[in-house]
Amino acid sequence: MAFFQWLERTGVTLHPGGWAATQRMLAQLQLRVGERVLDLGCGSGRTLAYAARQFHVQAVGVDLMPALAAQSYQRVRPYGGFALAADILRLPFRAATFDAAWAESVFVFLPKPEAFQEVARVLKPQGRFGMIELTWRGEPFPEYCEQTRQFLQVPRYEVLTLQEWSKMLQAAGFTVRYAEKLPAHAAFSPLPFWLSDTWALLRLAFGLARQVSPARWREGAIKIASLFRYTVPAIFIATKAG
Ligand SMILES: C[S@@+](CC[C@H](N)C(=O)[O-])C[C@H]1O[C@@H](n2cnc3c(N)ncnc32)[C@H](O)[C@@H]1O
Repeated sequence: MAFFQWLERTGVTLHPGGWAATQRMLAQLQLRVGERVLDLGCGSGRTLAYAARQFHVQAVGVDLMPALAAQSYQRVRPYGGFALAADILRLPFRAATFDAAWAESVFVFLPKPEAFQEVARVLKPQGRFGMIELTWRGEPFPEYCEQTRQFLQVPRYEVLTLQEWSKMLQAAGFTVRYAEKLPAHAAFSPLPFWLSDTWALLRLAFGLARQVSPARWREGAIKIASLFRYTVPAIFIATKAG
């Protein structure tokens, strides 16, 4: 079974850097009351619902997997938000719809130029885009991407350097205002969020272990070790040209 279907079955999604990275990215995005915002690849909808509740924005989420989009909708609906199943490469929104958008651990799976152009299309002029994505800890190690692609059974999995991500954003018409590599996958966050991240990680790990054969457990453990060894999360904040 492919990775996104695993996520859909377990109903748990995560991103590198955890809640600490999310809060840092949202703070940099400076969301304002009433703004229309878009969570790209919203997964189970935790960030989407938090943003709607905390910043009183009109929050919309999209995810490729219908069950994850439905779960997000249930979570964000009490705060006036909405979520739907859609592909980031063909967003069902008019040009210049959103004031801000973000993506957490999604673009690593996408064809970058097309996906960034689609984000630029739906953002208003001067619209802000935040992203949490994997970068190389040191020298690039392309074999890790190939192994991960095979293990996760996804068509694409490409980690880029901080500079390469920034260039891709610039090529789609963004000005990169902020690009920061975090020192490690797990950063300090307030205890309730740290506990919630740890609980989500355990649920995901047990959920996945139940669905893959024991022969693949070792492969999975090596993959996770490689993730920590070769990559670190980074936060990007970019603005669409106005
Ligand atoms: C690693 S998960 C992260 C989910 C969520 N952002 C989070 O941090 O919990 C990646 C998500 O991207 C979604 N995704 C992958 N490709 C997509 C695409 N082309 N369009 C929309 N969503 C996509 C997957 O279904 C999955 O929910």
